[in-house]
Amino acid sequence: MSFPDTRFRRFRKTPALRRMVRETRLSADNLVLPLFACGGSGIAKPVSSMPGVFQHSVDRLAETAREAYAEGVRAVLLFGIPETKDATGSSSWSQDGIVQRALRAITSEVPEMVKIADVCFCEYTDHGHCGVLDGEVVDNDATLENLARQSVSLAAAGADVIAPSDMMDGRVGAIRKALDAAGFADTPILSYAVKFASAFYGPFREAAESAPAFGDRRSYQMDPANAREAMREAAADVEEGADMLMVKPALPYLDILAGLRQRFDLPLAAYHVSGEYAMLKAAAERGWINYDRVMMESLLAIRRAGADLIMTYAARDAARLLAEGWTE
Ligand code: PBG
Repeated sequence: MSFPDTRFRRFRKTPALRRMVRETRLSADNLVLPLFACGGSGIAKPVSSMPGVFQHSVDRLAETAREAYAEGVRAVLLFGIPETKDATGSSSWSQDGIVQRALRAITSEVPEMVKIADVCFCEYTDHGHCGVLDGEVVDNDATLENLARQSVSLAAAGADVIAPSDMMDGRVGAIRKALDAAGFADTPILSYAVKFASAFYGPFREAAESAPAFGDRRSYQMDPANAREAMREAAADVEEGADMLMVKPALPYLDILAGLRQRFDLPLAAYHVSGEYAMLKAAAERGWINYDRVMMESLLAIRRAGADLIMTYAARDAARLLAEGWTE
């Protein structure tokens, strides 16, 4: 059947009709709020390139988590800015480490909040790379041992989900083995399986103070040109025992996300990264776009492409709009 028998506009006439046939919905249950923990107390230091995002001392971070929970956000993703950095990033596996302290503080302040811990070394190493160096190269296999240590330490401090973002080969298997051996067989691994070497991470590196001191991350993160390799990366992580897969960044890589959705039945996450958020904020600040509408449309598009979970700095804004009955 075609026009005039078929008229697509019949179900577009009213808000109620449109809602009735809507295929994709956004819910606060799908949102994860990234948070940055730093030392000290009473600190909320704004990140200049990401309006609304702060480095929080552990006390303020726990309060922020409580406020976000009250707004409907059910999960946070934790990053740490440690007091000291060294060549291996050893503070990342200390029980007294910054994220370990943040995990305990959130647990006591908002026990219901799901705590996802990012596992990587770029915030913890004095050279800003995501693992141990051998000369100027990140040593994959030596880094695996440290990833396992960091993961076990984070699980012991109360992380509900372990999320490795380092892009070393074999890490999911190494982390799974270490978690199981340490008595954390029930702790799931959310693998940043498909993480591209992206310029969209720029503002995050200010937020996390994690820019590499030399070179870039192209020898371990993926080439933005590669879609088939993304499927191989994902398959390898599934094979090694990943419980959930992530694609990162989100909007420029929706084809990858949709491809993963077709091939895998695991839950999928997408990271709407710092640069994506900064662009929305900057354009809105100039009055060039409507932040609420473009942000909600972006998140909906990420869901439509196949993401169950969306990591986004806009999580609180979106949760508030949804609670107010946003239906656009
Ligand atoms: C750590 C990590 C990064 C991001 C998440 N985990 C930065 C990077 O790989 O350089 C980026 C998140 C964002 O841009 O919002 N490796």
